[in-house]
Order: sequence, then structure tokens, then C-alpha cells
Amino acid sequence: MTKIFRFGVIGCGLMGREFASAAARWLHLADVKARPEIVAVCDTNATLLDWFTDHVPTVRQATADYKELLANPEIDAVYCAVPHVLHQQIYIDVLKAGKHLLGEKPFGMDAAQNREITAVLSEHPELLVRCSSEMPFFPGAQKVIALARSGEMGEILEVEAGFLHSSDIDRQKPINWKRMTEINGDYGCMGDLGMHVLHVPLRLGWRPANLHAQLVKKVRERPDGKGGMLPCTTWDNATISGRVRSGDQDFPMVLKTWRIAPGESNTWYIRILGMKKSAFFSTKSPRQWQWMDYNGGAQAWSTEDLGYASLFPAITGKIFEFGFADAIQQMWAAFVDELAGGNANGFGCATPAEAQAHHAVLTAALRSGRDDVVVPVDYDGASV
Ligand SMILES: NC(=O)c1ccc[n+]([C@@H]2O[C@H](COP(=O)([O-])OP(=O)(O)OC[C@H]3O[C@@H](n4cnc5c(N)ncnc54)[C@H](O)[C@@H]3O)[C@@H](O)[C@H]2O)c1
Repeated sequence: MTKIFRFGVIGCGLMGREFASAAARWLHLADVKARPEIVAVCDTNATLLDWFTDHVPTVRQATADYKELLANPEIDAVYCAVPHVLHQQIYIDVLKAGKHLLGEKPFGMDAAQNREITAVLSEHPELLVRCSSEMPFFPGAQKVIALARSGEMGEILEVEAGFLHSSDIDRQKPINWKRMTEINGDYGCMGDLGMHVLHVPLRLGWRPANLHAQLVKKVRERPDGKGGMLPCTTWDNATISGRVRSGDQDFPMVLKTWRIAPGESNTWYIRILGMKKSAFFSTKSPRQWQWMDYNGGAQAWSTEDLGYASLFPAITGKIFEFGFADAIQQMWAAFVDELAGGNANGFGCATPAEAQAHHAVLTAALRSGRDDVVVPVDYDGASV
């Protein structure tokens, strides 16, 4: 019988509702051990609570006070999708309440807040805790990961991973919390997009030992939506260039987290170039991946239409397209599978250790970008 895990959602905005949608169409997945059921929701915005009670019939508790939700003994696990400044306090309270947690990135607004979360987590080994990062669940991304894991790529020449947005090019776009350092954090665009670009490199064991970052700030104020202007304080774009030494590999890695990438709406990509094999996937062509084999002959990239070759099998025919909402559901399938004792079909959600390592990279990048110097990445410092 399919096991049920009862969830509370704290933060019912953009991402909270994505989870509701993924959970509501769980029948989309074939052959799952368990399923989530959202029984409680919390948001300080009453309209969003109404959205949940209108659309999710299993919701029995709707509250503006997350501590009330955490006191609910019905709840096994919590999804927390709130502004970054609230991660530390709420994640820690979730863990102390004895609930499993899928927390949103960056998993603490900065390295110090992430350390506080990690310290409490170490007292709760019984809890499953993961950090949200859905883009590697695209089938094309899984192909690139599998090729990298195969060890067949030869000496790696370069890895580039990026997440590119463009709507911030519009200076008239009203400000929101993601453009305010006091709520989003000093990382700016790196805090929003850094976990997305680092998840796969970190999973493959590729940690930059040192790095240099170029931080770009173009839009310094934005409309407040009431006829005035407010300072827009976060970094718009970051390009991080690092050096990775892993086993017998030694190669450069470039990470791009750009909020102003002209023409790009939500492009996540990874490119790995090797002496024997190379691989590339971008959400711009969501059903395809590309690779190249070099055996001394022609250098020709191959492109394959993968369709819906998902990590967790689904009812959708293999010829159909896979999209963002599917990646979200696959990530949730991985989390719920681990809750049920599974191995997430070999690719679990980002771990707290990976979130911690990504803070080490972003902290170094922030210092590098501000001072224009090459900075060693202090992975141990991120864990003390
Ligand atoms: N995985 C992804 O692809 C992805 C995409 C976007 C955002 N995110 C992350 O998700 C998190 C939330 O981002 P979002 O885009 O959903 O933001 P959002 O602003 O749409 O939603 C956040 C919600 O939190 C609520 N909130 C604020 N204070 C609260 C409190 N004290 N108690 C309960 N609710 C409170 C707000 O009312 C709002 O509805 C962030 O960590 C962000 O980085 C992840």
C-alpha cells in the first residue's frame, strides 16, 4: 500500500503553490512507495491561505503563525518556502519540533545562519532534511550527470553551469524582497540561483578550491508600486571562475548566476567539456541533450530528443515534453522516496552538506567580487 506522509507548508507563495500542484497530481507518477498529503498551511498573507483551502481539500489547518503549524502532531514533514531572512529561525524551529524538512535555498541567508541550522540539524539525525533544487531532475541533466559519473569523459577541460534570468532588465519592474539585501541577503543573485548551479558540480565532487568573482550591479532603484522609487540593493549578476582539483582532475569551473541575461527567461544549463567526451544540457531545449565522443576522428556533437525519460517513472508517454512543473514533481518524488526509506532512484535532493558547501563558495565569491581578489574557499570554516 502507498504510504502517506502528511505535510505542512510554511510560505504559500510562488514555491508553496508549486508543491501543492505537484502533490495534487501525484497520480502522474507510476510505481511510487509513498505520497505527500498537505494537511496544514501557514502564511502571513490570508489570500494565499484561502487559495490553499479553496484548492487543496486535505488542508485542515490554516494559520498565520508557523508555531501553531509546528505544534500540529498530525504533521510528519514541512516544506518551508519563505524569504531568506526567515530561513534560520523557521528551519531551526521545524527541526526542534521533530518534523522532516525540505527547505528552500539558500538554506540560511548567509554562511553564519546556515551554520546555526546545521548545528541544530546535527542534534536530529532521525530527521530527513534536504534543500530544494529541481533543475537537475530534467532528463537531459540526468544524462549529463550519468556521463560525468561514468568516468568516460577523460581529462576534463572545463565545467560551466549557469542560471540565467532576464526580467530584471526592465527598470520599471517593481521591487520585491528578492532585491533587498536585508531580506534576500548580501549574496543577491547568488543566494537566489547559487544552489541551482552548484548542486550538480558538488554532487559530482567538484568543489572549487579558490575562485574569482565578477559581481555586477546595474539597476540601483526600482518602483515601489506606489508611485515612488526604492533602493534596489542586491547584486544583479555574478560570474564565478574557480579551479577544481578532484582525484586526478584539475580544471576550471565557471558559474553564472545572472538576473539580467538579455533574452533568457529561466535558462539553467550545464556544459562539461572533456578530452574524450563532452556533454551539454540547457532548459532552453528541455527535451534534448547533446554530447560529443572524440576518438581521433571527426569532432561532431550529437543531439538526442529524450522526451519524458524521467528519473521517477510517470504515466506520460516517453515522446512527450518534460517541463519545469515536472522537474518540481520529480524533486518531490525524490524527497518522498527518501522519506519512505528509498534511495531516490540514485539522485536525491541537495543535502545539507551540499547546501553548506555552496555557502562556502558564495561567501568566497562575495569577498572576491567586492575586493577584486582571488579567494580560497573555506569549506571547513563553513562548518565550524
Ligand atoms: N526552487 C526554486 O526554483 C525556487 C524558485 C523561487 C524561489 N525559491 C525559494 O523559495 C523561497 C520562497 O520564495 P518564493 O519565490 O516562493 O517567495 P514568495 O514571496 O512568493 O513566497 C514567500 C511567502 O512567504 C510568506 N511569509 C513571509 N513571512 C512569513 C512568516 N513569518 N510566516 C509564514 N509565511 C511567511 C509570504 O507571505 C509569501 O507568501 C525562497 O527561499 C526562494 O529562494 C526557490
